[in-house]
Amino acid sequence: MSFNSLLLISLIILCQSIVKGAKITIVGAGNVGASTANYLALNEVASEIVLFNRREGKAEGKAMDIMQASYILGFSSIVTGVSGDYTCTANSDVVVIASGVSGKSGLTREELLEISAGIVKSLVEKLILYSPNAIFVIVSNPVDEMTKLTLKLTGLPKNKVIGMGNFLDSNRFKYYLAEALKANPKDIQGLVIGGHGDKTMVPLIRYATYKWIPISDLLPQSIIEEVVKATVLGGTTLIKLLGTSAWMAPGASIYYLVDSIINDKKRLISCSVYLEGEYGWKDIAIGVPVIIGKNGIEKIVNLELNEEEKALFDKAAKNVKQNDDILDKIFQFNK
Ligand SMILES: NC(=O)c1ccc[n+]([C@@H]2O[C@H](COP(=O)([O-])OP(=O)(O)OC[C@H]3O[C@@H](n4cnc5c(N)ncnc54)[C@H](O)[C@@H]3O)[C@@H](O)[C@H]2O)c1
Repeated sequence: MSFNSLLLISLIILCQSIVKGAKITIVGAGNVGASTANYLALNEVASEIVLFNRREGKAEGKAMDIMQASYILGFSSIVTGVSGDYTCTANSDVVVIASGVSGKSGLTREELLEISAGIVKSLVEKLILYSPNAIFVIVSNPVDEMTKLTLKLTGLPKNKVIGMGNFLDSNRFKYYLAEALKANPKDIQGLVIGGHGDKTMVPLIRYATYKWIPISDLLPQSIIEEVVKATVLGGTTLIKLLGTSAWMAPGASIYYLVDSIINDKKRLISCSVYLEGEYGWKDIAIGVPVIIGKNGIEKIVNLELNEEEKALFDKAAKNVKQNDDILDKIFQFNK
């Protein structure tokens, strides 16, 4: 037997044997995937974290880089890099889909939709075979549409497919509010619902508070409008500065969501979830506040929206529905 074969067998045995606690697979070893693996390992959310990529070398390199910090930072999670070998993803508790094309490529929304859907389809249909009990966390953009697509392709119950987009937007909203108020971000509450796009996001000003005081009592309307604009353009601003999509806050947001699942934290997080009449919509996945615990989505929180907020939410939902219709045609879901 060659050295390479022996190495491969040892790797597979290692992948299958070291699971003591939770196991998380992150698909896509790009900026977002690697940053997620790093935060999850640092906080020891799982004993085993598999970073999976199609291109040989990248996942292995990122995993090795993270692991070489374990001696300094003292974490005991094992991060393994894998290229294309689905057996190493087997029996994951959570699968994060963070593969795809980042903001640098300048694609139209429709092009991005079709490319991303092709990638997500090719991945989730295989991943579900190896991890039939996993909860899927979707990050690949456009996240709302990819969440519904994953739900349809895997046949999983709706509580087990969660899109992460509006939680990042909510964190950006809180960041800009803290800047405007010159306050500690920990004292700010803020929620963004709707789609995860600059034309579909709905930052909820009425529900934003600083130490439980409504922000409209603390900031003039003109500043609040600037905060909302900055939030909605948060991703675009970072793409302009970085030349690609952001990855630090996305990785931290995914970590927080996955930690809430693995450790049953029951956190209230704005996530893209499949609606069946909630907020007046059905058969779309879109961002609304939910409780996240060991069963994934444990409860959809029905916030009362005023007329203006409902109109913005409906506009976002129509936009997502149009994209879903394009995907339905491509994949012939309605036949
Ligand atoms: N939902 C959010 O809040 C949010 C935030 C940031 C980025 N994103 C999205 O996350 C995705 C990844 O972003 P990024 O900045 O890390 O991109 P990136 O280009 O740095 O990394 C993408 C990775 O996916 C891999 N990949 C592509 N096709 C694959 C396949 N079929 N199988 C396995 N791996 C594959 C690529 O090789 C690459 O390593 C993009 O869709 C981006 O738009 C979402």
